[in-house]
Amino acid sequence: MLIFAIESSCDETAAAILSAEENENGHSLKLLSNVVSSQIAIHALYGGVVPEIASRAHSEAISGVVAQAFADAGCTPADIDAVAVTYAPGLIGSLLVGVSFAKAFASVNHLPLIPVNHIEAHVAAAYLTYPDLKPPYLALVVSGGHTSLYEVSDYKTFTEIGGTRDDAAGEAFDKVGRVMGLPYPGGAAMDKLAAEGFRFYDPKQKKVLHFPSPATPDDTLDFSFSGLKTAVINHIHTTKQRMTSGNEEDVELPEETKAEIAAAFTHSVTEGIAKKLDMALSGGNYNTVVMAGGVAANSHLRAKVESVCGKHNVSFAVPPLSLCGDNAAMTAACGYHLYRCGVRADASLNAFANLE
Ligand code: KG4
Ligand code: ZN
Repeated sequence: MLIFAIESSCDETAAAILSAEENENGHSLKLLSNVVSSQIAIHALYGGVVPEIASRAHSEAISGVVAQAFADAGCTPADIDAVAVTYAPGLIGSLLVGVSFAKAFASVNHLPLIPVNHIEAHVAAAYLTYPDLKPPYLALVVSGGHTSLYEVSDYKTFTEIGGTRDDAAGEAFDKVGRVMGLPYPGGAAMDKLAAEGFRFYDPKQKKVLHFPSPATPDDTLDFSFSGLKTAVINHIHTTKQRMTSGNEEDVELPEETKAEIAAAFTHSVTEGIAKKLDMALSGGNYNTVVMAGGVAANSHLRAKVESVCGKHNVSFAVPPLSLCGDNAAMTAACGYHLYRCGVRADASLNAFANLE
């Protein structure tokens, strides 16, 4: 069957067409097209996503993105069997553009409509790369808006067993990156800068820079990134103030200082996440860990999580970098499995910024 999917939960307008079928080994998923139109250049001017601008930009982009997805796949709406769309969570104005488009498309073409949760879609990106992957497994979602651990017992049952009590990991990357003067969004630039920093920054040395851990100091599987974020931002301000008797805004940190801060911050993030993952794997009976979301693109986190999985002798599945950020290929993969499970929406489908 062919699934047409739309994703517009934040600042990427995306459409994809997936060919999917069940076979004797499980499921064969073949991506026919995957178009992502990013608004990063627009929001970079403001240092973060401006919701009203995002929804307007989605409205302007969506028809062209969908047309491109059909052209790339070499098919027409008449070939499609079902429509999947992200309906939550995300920016409400952004979500509504995708949901309205998908409802109209499904109605005009008399197709079933499948409502997709954006977080579950991030996890489903792994099905596109690991054909043998199937629930149950443990999912670690690390994105701009979420940082959580889920027990995934079947294709549509996600039970949150831990999560952030305040900021998400990606939010912390972006805010620290902004204070350091890195291009928006800061995550990818911090990744590279930390790699420079790890050439000389050795976290095993007690006398080097250390920031607080985002792992809560208790036996839950929760995180808290706000203390870490504030500690790094305060450290940057103090360092700048020490360098000048004038206005700290005029001070540019030396590259080596920035690289050291990026490495120390990244070390805290990766160790904190690894600590809670280690606790989850020690306390549960899992064979596989799936890591997903924009921050799953982080090279240091990928290496650390892989080593924790190795220690527990469980398999590790993580999408390629191109499928970690927001895209509609993951929405299509999630939609396919929900379709098989009988999940459908009707014309009353609404968008939701948050879900229970
Ligand atoms: O999943 P995503 O595309 O959007 C949400 O659903 O939130 O995640 C975006 C987040 C941003 O905060 C971005 O800075 C972060 O993912 N990110 C990274 C990297 N690439 C993207 N964070 C750390 N290291 C990276 N390489
Ligand atoms: Zn996302």
